[in-house]
Amino acid sequence: MDLVDIFPAFGIRIECGPVTLRAMRESDATRVAELAAEGIHAPSARPFLRPWNLEEEQPTTSLQFYYRTWASVTPESWTLLFAVERDGILVGAQDMRTESFAVLRTAETGSWLGLAHQGHGTGTLMRQAILVFAFDHLAAVQMTSGAWADNPSSHRVSEKCGYGLNGYDLRDRQGEPVRSDRFVVTPGTFVRPPYDVVVTGLEAFARSVGLDVTP
Ligand SMILES: CC(C)(COP(=O)(O)OP(=O)(O)OC[C@H]1O[C@@H](n2cnc3c(N)ncnc32)[C@H](O)[C@@H]1OP(=O)(O)O)[C@@H](O)C(=O)NCCC(=O)NCCS
Repeated sequence: MDLVDIFPAFGIRIECGPVTLRAMRESDATRVAELAAEGIHAPSARPFLRPWNLEEEQPTTSLQFYYRTWASVTPESWTLLFAVERDGILVGAQDMRTESFAVLRTAETGSWLGLAHQGHGTGTLMRQAILVFAFDHLAAVQMTSGAWADNPSSHRVSEKCGYGLNGYDLRDRQGEPVRSDRFVVTPGTFVRPPYDVVVTGLEAFARSVGLDVTP
């Protein structure tokens, strides 16, 4: 038996032209630490709730986050963690998190890329890849994303993928009140990627969280 037979989320793979989303694994934590050390954003920018990638404990806290996320997968509430590869090299991460998906068919995504890998269209392709996965393979009816008002590249990626603004929250970002914009995309507004998307390993995962998917 392989680990993926016990934990099917480890078997999901989404290929979209030069970009591949494959399940994050424990051994990826070292490459994530390298990317974080090389920079994910300018030191003054704040794309996340806290600057986790600038913290000395990042390798430990990221690994603990992965373990917590894997340990918390249930049919009612699950998060998929993907390592993002461009031309076979790990360049960032994409996640998809949801509650009551079988009923609501909606999920939220989040993502980041190492600084050196930004601005080449990878952020758009990885978002389009996960949206094809959600809409075509998991029958999602909408997908959401959020970004601070001062994160123009994330806003632009959402816009390019066909999201519309869906309100905002005022949130405490390290002691500052900052607007966090909410975006939503549906199958009708989604701007699809210029590549076919190939998904493998979904059926066993879907069964494990109580979803009925036909290949
Ligand atoms: C957000 C992120 C994933 C996008 O990935 P990416 O590979 O850079 O995105 P793409 O290259 O596909 O597209 C970026 C778009 O933003 C635009 N953009 C970048 N900086 C911009 C700025 N300052 N003002 C306006 N537009 C900007 C680019 O021109 C591009 O749009 P275009 O294709 O119309 O020219 C990446 O920048 C990242 O990881 N940032 C740091 C972490 C982060 O912000 N994560 C998201 C948290 S919500």
